[in-house]
Amino acid sequence: MAVDLLLGLQWGDEGKGKIVDVLTKDYDIIARFQGGPNAGHTLEFDGIKHVLHTIPSGIFHENAINVVGNGVVIDPVIFKKELDNLKKFNIDIPARLLISRKAHLILPTHRLLDAASEAAKGKAKIGSTLKGIGPTYMDKTGRNGMRIGDLEFTDWKSKYRALANKHEAMIGFYNVDIQYDLKELEAEFFQAVSALQQLKFIDSEEYLFKAQKEGKKILAEGAQGSLLDIDFGTYPFVTSSNTTAAGACTGLGVAPNKIGGVFGIFKAYTTRVGSGPFPTELFDEDGATMGRVGNEFGATTGRPRRCGWLDLVALKYAVQINGVTQLMMMKGDVLSGFKTLKVCTAYQYKGEKITHLPYNIASENVRPIYTEMPGWDQDLTKMSTAKELPENLNAYIDFLEKELEVPIKIVSVGPDRKQTIHR
Ligand code: GDP
Ligand code: IMO
Ligand code: MG
Repeated sequence: MAVDLLLGLQWGDEGKGKIVDVLTKDYDIIARFQGGPNAGHTLEFDGIKHVLHTIPSGIFHENAINVVGNGVVIDPVIFKKELDNLKKFNIDIPARLLISRKAHLILPTHRLLDAASEAAKGKAKIGSTLKGIGPTYMDKTGRNGMRIGDLEFTDWKSKYRALANKHEAMIGFYNVDIQYDLKELEAEFFQAVSALQQLKFIDSEEYLFKAQKEGKKILAEGAQGSLLDIDFGTYPFVTSSNTTAAGACTGLGVAPNKIGGVFGIFKAYTTRVGSGPFPTELFDEDGATMGRVGNEFGATTGRPRRCGWLDLVALKYAVQINGVTQLMMMKGDVLSGFKTLKVCTAYQYKGEKITHLPYNIASENVRPIYTEMPGWDQDLTKMSTAKELPENLNAYIDFLEKELEVPIKIVSVGPDRKQTIHR
């Protein structure tokens, strides 16, 4: 049985959480493969909004097991908070949530290092979520990290101490003013580790291998988006993991020839949180309207998201890198009421018109070239079938499908599970 993937094609926050929740009824296993609590995945149903950071977005369904894969980095403190938030929903967590022994641990000092590194960068900062993601992946690839499996050995605290001591010395190296009380942070960390130890740690690659043999249906859930990929994103303004399709292979131990459908998710416009280039960014009333109507505030940090028109140059690149087999367009409802819509189909770059992402996109050297399309003003949020969609929205979808050469199979018209139209 093949493993399907669901990934964000832009700079994150495309609506991955919502769609994983919608699709879970058709799967036996939902597996997160990279990133950590820098992610904020929002789900809405029965009038309640849930935000998940590390726990996969299939957790509310009885039919599915949720796996946190080896490619994920886990902060026990945030993980415990997520577990506490779920308590009132009567979910049998130990039965439904499994954690890879090979997933790496975010220590309190990783968070401090993230803060020190950002403070030292000043204006050039990445705009990190400050969850310790970069320093934890650095320790992973530097072969110094601590893993979930270490918590099964009695000496894990001495390993912890050695690493935390090293981090403290490194924080000093940055020579910035970071105030912290490590004793307090550690007390919270150790308590959270105890909560984590109540859950089942597994060799997740083995578990998923067996599940595939038994014909179980598996959906891999991505975090962040393709343009934040450590290799293919807008480096250095990226996250520290491979957010693209190949990341699911290394982040779960799934062989490339076992990947089935690659579901690429994008907003009908574009948003970005944090620093870095964003060619179609709007600084006018249109951008403000997208932010207001789309309620564009980060699900993890609450920061306002930067908004702009859809960038087909970047989207095409993401479709290619990931081998996307079907597309899902989110937040079409937010564009209702715009008289004219713009879609970037090329860049003006160093005096030339180009249709690929150049090595270095910066606002100084890239100017978007737009195709204009008529908008629609119908309220989409009550619509539930493709038949009801306005003509101009269908024209917008047709245009994108033609440009991207991949079918758009889902059109999302609101945050709720039910506001999902299959085509
Ligand atoms: P993720 O990180 O990809 O899971 O996305 P986020 O949860 O960070 O951000 C997506 C936001 O848009 C959340 O607040 C969702 O509830 C909301 N959302 C998802 N789909 C739609 C949609 O079709 N229309 C509207 N208006 N909101 C949506
Ligand atoms: P989801 O899964 C949007 C951004 C940060 C920052 C950069 C690096 O909800 O789509 P990091 O904390 O990883 O060092 O930050 O990446 N970023 C996200 N932006 N959605 C996310 O996740 C993000 N995770 C990280 O804002 O610019
Ligand atoms: Mg998000």
